[in-house]
Amino acid sequence: MGRREPLHGQWSSRIAFIFAATGAAVGLGNIWKFPYITGLNGGGAFVAVYLLFVLAIALPVMMAEVMLGRRGRRNPINAMRLLSEEETGKTRWQIVGWLGVLTGMLILSYYSVIGGWTIDYALRTVSGTFAQTNAAGVREQFAALAASPWRMLLWHTVFMLLTVLVVARGVEQGLEKALKYLMPLLFVLLLVMVGYAMTTGHFMQGLRYMFDFNISELSADGILMAMGQAFFSLSIGMGAIMAYGAYLPEDASIGGTTLSVALMDTTVALLTGIMLFPIVFANGLDPAHGPGLLFLTLPLAFGQMTAGTIFGALFFLLLVFAAWTSSIGLIEPAVARLVEHRQLRRSHATWIIGGIIWLLGLISIFSFNVLRDVRPFGRSLFANLDFFTSNILLPFSGFMIAVFAGWVMCRGSSTEELELGAGNRYSAWRLLIRFVAPVAMLLVSLHALGLLEKFLK
Ligand code: PHE
Repeated sequence: MGRREPLHGQWSSRIAFIFAATGAAVGLGNIWKFPYITGLNGGGAFVAVYLLFVLAIALPVMMAEVMLGRRGRRNPINAMRLLSEEETGKTRWQIVGWLGVLTGMLILSYYSVIGGWTIDYALRTVSGTFAQTNAAGVREQFAALAASPWRMLLWHTVFMLLTVLVVARGVEQGLEKALKYLMPLLFVLLLVMVGYAMTTGHFMQGLRYMFDFNISELSADGILMAMGQAFFSLSIGMGAIMAYGAYLPEDASIGGTTLSVALMDTTVALLTGIMLFPIVFANGLDPAHGPGLLFLTLPLAFGQMTAGTIFGALFFLLLVFAAWTSSIGLIEPAVARLVEHRQLRRSHATWIIGGIIWLLGLISIFSFNVLRDVRPFGRSLFANLDFFTSNILLPFSGFMIAVFAGWVMCRGSSTEELELGAGNRYSAWRLLIRFVAPVAMLLVSLHALGLLEKFLK
């Protein structure tokens, strides 16, 4: 079976694809989530395992996902149905597309709540709330936000509206073009903040925390979280990258483009850690504080540095933008599916899906206040949602993608699409996608479900 022409046009170049995919990849996952789960898992060993997973598992799966998207040239569900039929005569692999729709909606429901925190903090920084503040003051500010369902609801609503308005009008491209300028700016600002971190007197301590490999700090749960984070951060395992791959020009190299996206994404995460931990230690904060870490740390830095109000406001604003472009990747698979199958207008479909996600978001909001004591499996509802999506659903769809690309799809199809040549690079990819990635992801999913320990007993 040969290659297909794209149904709805394609990216003007591979650079356009790289920008769109980086827009989806760089978001709250890099700047909010990466440092706080690194902190929860004791630093260096977690970072090392994370980097290993990005390289050996997430990257090959990402290549597979782009490859399936480009070969299918349709939205993830239809692409997977078509390829499944082509390769097996049956349509059952479309389940991968369905899982993506579900996972994207669940993730966005809490992602939007944190996006809301970011808007709140951008405005607070502008109004000078954090000028000259100290650790106790910042803690109070954050506690007040977490305790107020109304304030969180307001900003969650605003964030969802931003997402829905862009997607309903189908003007994502506009936002992605803006990102061409905003992303480098975010990068520069991160470097400025790293510069500030160097002046705290705790820079080396921060670096050591991030890069000293101390295996005793790492638990089995930590390994699980590192895998989940690699998928979450690169936006793989839920169809977003597959959808973007559908528009990738024929002559663009899949290996090269995905490698650039992964490199940028990982650099942003690492820089965030390098700037954040020195500030954490300089102010006597606990790196293992949890989801509030970013919001407890940055305001301190902005409160102390010169022109901190401007830098701070700009930083949080850019973070809102980064989160916004990621949220589009999260909602798009569900919207595309509804449009194509119920013949709904794009705007109607977006409002319906957006409404459902907004409602689901209430669970996360309340888990920080009124439902604080509801803790199934010893975790808050918010943490459960994150655990279930990042550590179970994403690796599980990743597993299915790897099995499909490595075992179900015939060798000829993947060689033709990947164009890695017949040499070592293709063999390396094939080895990773057939053996290393599926086995690792299966182990991780089993452990997440608490089954691995049972088997080992
Ligand atoms: N990768 C995004 C982030 O790190 C989150 C995301 C996941 C976006 C999946 C789209 C799809 O913030």
